[in-house]
Amino acid sequence: MDHFRYLDHRLHCEQVPLDQIAASVGTPFYCYSQATLERHFDVFHNAFAGVEHLICYSVKANSSLAVLDTLARRGSGFDIVSGGELERVRRVGCPGSRVVFSGVGKSSAEIQAALEHEVLMFNVESQGELMRINALAGRMGLKAPIALRINPDVDPATHPYISTGLKRNKFGIPHTQAAELYRLAAGLEHVRPIGLDCHIGSQLTTLEPFVDALKRVKRLLVELRREGIPIRYLDLGGGLGIPYDSQQIPPHPERYAEALLHELQGLEVVLILEPGRVIVGNAGVLVARVEYVKQGEEKRFIITDAGMNDLIRPALYDAHHAILPVTRRFDREEILADVVGPICESADFLARDRMIPEFLAGELLAVRSAGAYGFTMSSNYNSRPRAAEVMVRQDRFAVVRPRETIQQLLEHEILFS
Ligand code: LLP
Repeated sequence: MDHFRYLDHRLHCEQVPLDQIAASVGTPFYCYSQATLERHFDVFHNAFAGVEHLICYSVKANSSLAVLDTLARRGSGFDIVSGGELERVRRVGCPGSRVVFSGVGKSSAEIQAALEHEVLMFNVESQGELMRINALAGRMGLKAPIALRINPDVDPATHPYISTGLKRNKFGIPHTQAAELYRLAAGLEHVRPIGLDCHIGSQLTTLEPFVDALKRVKRLLVELRREGIPIRYLDLGGGLGIPYDSQQIPPHPERYAEALLHELQGLEVVLILEPGRVIVGNAGVLVARVEYVKQGEEKRFIITDAGMNDLIRPALYDAHHAILPVTRRFDREEILADVVGPICESADFLARDRMIPEFLAGELLAVRSAGAYGFTMSSNYNSRPRAAEVMVRQDRFAVVRPRETIQQLLEHEILFS
């Protein structure tokens, strides 16, 4: 459930009409509903109420400080993958004890910063990284808490670019090599293996792959404990999908929790989860204005002021995002069209060959489900300033990140002669 709906034929975010925000902020802009964020977090968190757990929201999905702050106040911890994300969670006052550090290529500077912030654990993805953490922690006179990220070789049945738990993916340590590496870690002076981690992919729409992966890592966890390696934290990553259209409805977080908890019965662990998309995806929309409507020989193009630099998901993953008129009119016909941006690439589309309501030049449209991997993946391609970000709470809204200016884009560039 989210808080985007029509009232008097105007699409609202909570109690604020999106056209009102557009009039004040300009377009394109991302708009986030704080009530939806809170609700999604609470539903997810409560689903695991039966066990000791920590929700570490995955910052990469949407790293806006206003979003992180909203979730931190709700009790969320964070899953980070860079020094930049570490700085963001510090800015919202999150203690290291609620932060896990994931990622396949952590630099020395990033590891050092995370050690200084005393993160809960490093999710280690290779022997090289393990040795690097051991050396850096040694230099600082510390013992770094670690988990190994296991690649369980399970097919998440999602888009190949966002599947991570298969043998051919760069992620994690093959489950066949994991026990050996844990033994090595247990013998190192400056790391302390306390956890086991696994993340198999994103936008999963069925529960089986999660359960299959859990079965694999559970066996390993039991084996490690038998050998005297005291694994306390089990991090099952993120990945639960959201409904982008009415075709594929992923399981509700309560069903997801039930399936995991069923598998975990009798196993004393502190469960960590790293949801991203399921918390923010449907808490955000991208609002754009139609610049032109062009009738090609084969099809109609709705040309908007938002492009693939603002929302790359359709271009990169052929992702489906619903397109809604910000003002509902009953004389609108449904037409077959491409909704495209101003960028000089044929992959610059928000929707392709889609039956959508007819739009006129100058009208506003909302791209739904854009809260996750929308702004965070946006770029300055074609020297376009990144969109503004707005957050709504009930009948109030605030710009939480102003639209970039062309001046800002150019200010660090230097001529060379
Ligand atoms: N934990 C780890 C280690 C991850 O790599 C990810 C996402 C998550 C948690 C959060 O996954 P989520 O709950 O959001 O599915 N840009 C792509 C998605 C990339 C996901 C990367 N890793 C997209 O727009 O679909």
